Amino acid sequence: MKRLMILLTLLAGTPLLADVVAGEKVYKANCAICHTINGGSSLGPDFNMVSYKRYKEEIEYYAKDPYALAEAFGYSANAMPTLPLEDQEFKDVAEYISSLQPFKEWMKKETVVVKSKENNQIKKEE
Ligand code: HEC
Repeated sequence: MKRLMILLTLLAGTPLLADVVAGEKVYKANCAICHTINGGSSLGPDFNMVSYKRYKEEIEYYAKDPYALAEAFGYSANAMPTLPLEDQEFKDVAEYISSLQPFKEWMKKETVVVKSKENNQIKKEE
Protein backbone atom coordinates (compact mmCIF):
# COMPACT_ATOMS: atom_id res chain seq x y z
CA MET A 1 0.00 0.00 0.00
CA LYS A 2 2.81 2.32 0.92
CA ARG A 3 4.51 1.50 -2.37
CA LEU A 4 1.35 2.23 -4.27
CA MET A 5 1.04 5.61 -2.60
CA ILE A 6 4.62 6.45 -3.50
CA LEU A 7 4.00 5.39 -7.08
CA LEU A 8 0.85 7.49 -7.32
CA THR A 9 2.66 10.49 -5.89
CA LEU A 10 5.42 10.04 -8.42
CA LEU A 11 2.96 9.73 -11.29
CA ALA A 12 1.03 12.79 -10.21
CA GLY A 13 4.26 14.75 -10.15
CA THR A 14 5.43 13.56 -13.56
CA PRO A 15 5.73 16.47 -15.97
CA LEU A 16 4.47 14.14 -18.70
CA LEU A 17 0.95 14.09 -17.26
CA ALA A 18 0.92 17.82 -16.72
CA ASP A 19 2.08 18.34 -20.28
CA VAL A 20 -0.72 16.25 -21.74
CA VAL A 21 -3.39 18.13 -19.82
CA ALA A 22 -1.92 21.52 -20.66
CA GLY A 23 -1.43 20.34 -24.25
CA GLU A 24 -5.09 19.49 -24.66
CA LYS A 25 -5.95 23.07 -23.73
CA VAL A 26 -3.43 24.40 -26.24
CA TYR A 27 -4.96 22.10 -28.87
CA LYS A 28 -8.52 23.24 -28.23
CA ALA A 29 -7.59 26.91 -28.23
CA ASN A 30 -5.17 26.95 -31.16
CA CYS A 31 -5.37 23.88 -33.40
CA ALA A 32 -8.92 22.50 -33.26
CA ILE A 33 -10.27 24.95 -35.86
CA CYS A 34 -8.08 23.24 -38.48
CA HIS A 35 -7.22 19.80 -37.05
CA THR A 36 -9.73 17.22 -35.81
CA ILE A 37 -8.98 14.21 -33.65
CA ASN A 38 -10.53 11.19 -35.33
CA GLY A 39 -12.86 13.40 -37.35
CA GLY A 40 -10.95 13.05 -40.59
CA SER A 41 -9.05 15.69 -42.49
CA SER A 42 -10.25 19.22 -41.99
CA LEU A 43 -8.00 22.00 -43.23
CA GLY A 44 -5.07 20.13 -41.73
CA PRO A 45 -4.60 16.40 -41.19
CA ASP A 46 -6.38 14.46 -38.41
CA PHE A 47 -4.15 14.45 -35.32
CA ASN A 48 -4.87 10.77 -34.71
CA MET A 49 -3.02 9.98 -37.92
CA VAL A 50 -0.31 12.51 -37.13
CA SER A 51 0.12 10.82 -33.74
CA TYR A 52 0.45 7.44 -35.46
CA LYS A 53 2.93 8.58 -38.08
CA ARG A 54 5.16 11.16 -36.43
CA TYR A 55 7.62 11.37 -33.60
CA LYS A 56 6.77 13.78 -30.81
CA GLU A 57 9.72 15.99 -31.76
CA GLU A 58 8.54 16.18 -35.38
CA ILE A 59 5.12 17.39 -34.22
CA GLU A 60 6.68 20.00 -31.96
CA TYR A 61 9.05 21.33 -34.62
CA TYR A 62 6.41 21.36 -37.32
CA ALA A 63 3.99 23.28 -35.13
CA LYS A 64 6.73 25.76 -34.27
CA ASP A 65 7.81 26.42 -37.83
CA PRO A 66 5.45 24.95 -40.45
CA TYR A 67 6.91 27.16 -43.16
CA ALA A 68 10.38 25.66 -42.78
CA LEU A 69 9.21 22.05 -42.59
CA ALA A 70 6.24 21.80 -44.99
CA GLU A 71 8.36 20.48 -47.85
CA ALA A 72 10.26 17.99 -45.68
CA PHE A 73 6.89 16.65 -44.48
CA GLY A 74 5.76 16.10 -48.07
CA TYR A 75 3.54 19.13 -48.63
CA SER A 76 3.83 21.11 -51.84
CA ALA A 77 2.87 24.35 -50.08
CA ASN A 78 2.56 25.63 -46.54
CA ALA A 79 -1.02 26.40 -45.55
CA MET A 80 -0.56 26.31 -41.78
CA PRO A 81 0.12 29.62 -40.06
CA THR A 82 3.06 30.10 -37.71
CA LEU A 83 1.38 30.38 -34.33
CA PRO A 84 2.60 32.80 -31.67
CA LEU A 85 2.83 30.34 -28.77
CA GLU A 86 5.41 29.82 -26.03
CA ASP A 87 8.03 27.06 -26.37
CA GLN A 88 6.43 25.22 -23.47
CA GLU A 89 3.01 25.32 -25.19
CA PHE A 90 4.47 23.73 -28.33
CA LYS A 91 6.07 21.05 -26.15
CA ASP A 92 2.79 20.42 -24.30
CA VAL A 93 0.65 20.22 -27.43
CA ALA A 94 3.16 17.85 -29.07
CA GLU A 95 3.07 15.68 -25.95
CA TYR A 96 -0.73 15.66 -26.11
CA ILE A 97 -0.92 14.82 -29.83
CA SER A 98 1.71 12.11 -29.42
CA SER A 99 -0.28 10.57 -26.55
CA LEU A 100 -3.37 10.09 -28.75
CA GLN A 101 -1.94 6.93 -30.32
CA PRO A 102 0.17 4.67 -28.13
CA PHE A 103 0.90 2.40 -31.10
CA LYS A 104 3.08 4.01 -33.76
CA GLU A 105 3.79 3.26 -37.38
CA TRP A 106 7.46 2.64 -36.61
CA MET A 107 6.54 -0.04 -34.08
CA LYS A 108 5.21 -2.36 -36.79
CA LYS A 109 6.92 -5.72 -36.76
CA GLU A 110 7.14 -6.15 -40.54
CA THR A 111 10.65 -4.76 -40.87
CA VAL A 112 11.88 -7.07 -38.12
CA VAL A 113 10.42 -10.12 -39.88
CA VAL A 114 12.00 -9.12 -43.20
CA LYS A 115 15.35 -8.62 -41.50
CA SER A 116 15.29 -12.02 -39.86
CA LYS A 117 14.40 -13.65 -43.19
CA GLU A 118 17.41 -12.00 -44.77
CA ASN A 119 19.58 -13.23 -41.94
CA ASN A 120 18.38 -16.77 -42.46
CA GLN A 121 19.20 -16.58 -46.13
CA ILE A 122 22.68 -15.33 -45.42
CA LYS A 123 23.18 -18.19 -43.00
CA LYS A 124 22.05 -20.72 -45.59
CA GLU A 125 24.49 -19.37 -48.16
CA GLU A 126 27.45 -19.81 -45.83
C1 HEC B 1 -5.35 27.71 -39.96
C2 HEC B 1 -5.33 26.29 -39.90
C3 HEC B 1 -4.35 25.57 -39.00
C4 HEC B 1 -4.13 25.77 -37.65
C5 HEC B 1 -4.77 26.79 -36.72
C6 HEC B 1 -3.15 24.76 -37.25
N1 HEC B 1 -2.80 24.01 -38.33
FE1 HEC B 1 -1.45 22.46 -38.33
N2 HEC B 1 -1.71 22.23 -40.32
C7 HEC B 1 -2.60 22.94 -41.11
C8 HEC B 1 -2.51 22.49 -42.49
C9 HEC B 1 -3.32 23.01 -43.66
C10 HEC B 1 -1.52 21.47 -42.51
C11 HEC B 1 -1.04 20.67 -43.71
C12 HEC B 1 0.28 21.16 -44.17
C13 HEC B 1 0.18 22.50 -44.81
O1 HEC B 1 -0.51 22.65 -45.82
O2 HEC B 1 0.80 23.45 -44.29
C14 HEC B 1 -1.05 21.33 -41.13
C15 HEC B 1 -0.09 20.44 -40.74
C16 HEC B 1 0.32 20.22 -39.42
C17 HEC B 1 1.29 19.22 -38.99
C18 HEC B 1 2.02 18.23 -39.88
C19 HEC B 1 1.17 17.00 -40.05
C20 HEC B 1 1.91 15.84 -40.64
O3 HEC B 1 2.24 14.94 -39.92
O4 HEC B 1 2.12 15.85 -41.86
C21 HEC B 1 1.39 19.34 -37.64
C22 HEC B 1 2.26 18.49 -36.73
C23 HEC B 1 0.51 20.40 -37.23
N3 HEC B 1 -0.13 20.92 -38.34
C24 HEC B 1 0.34 20.81 -35.93
C25 HEC B 1 -0.46 21.86 -35.54
C26 HEC B 1 -0.61 22.29 -34.15
C27 HEC B 1 0.08 21.62 -32.98
C28 HEC B 1 -1.45 23.34 -34.15
C29 HEC B 1 -1.91 24.15 -32.97
C30 HEC B 1 -0.92 24.60 -32.03
C31 HEC B 1 -1.85 23.59 -35.53
N4 HEC B 1 -1.25 22.66 -36.34
C32 HEC B 1 -2.70 24.61 -35.95
C33 HEC B 1 -3.44 23.94 -40.69
C34 HEC B 1 -3.50 24.46 -39.42
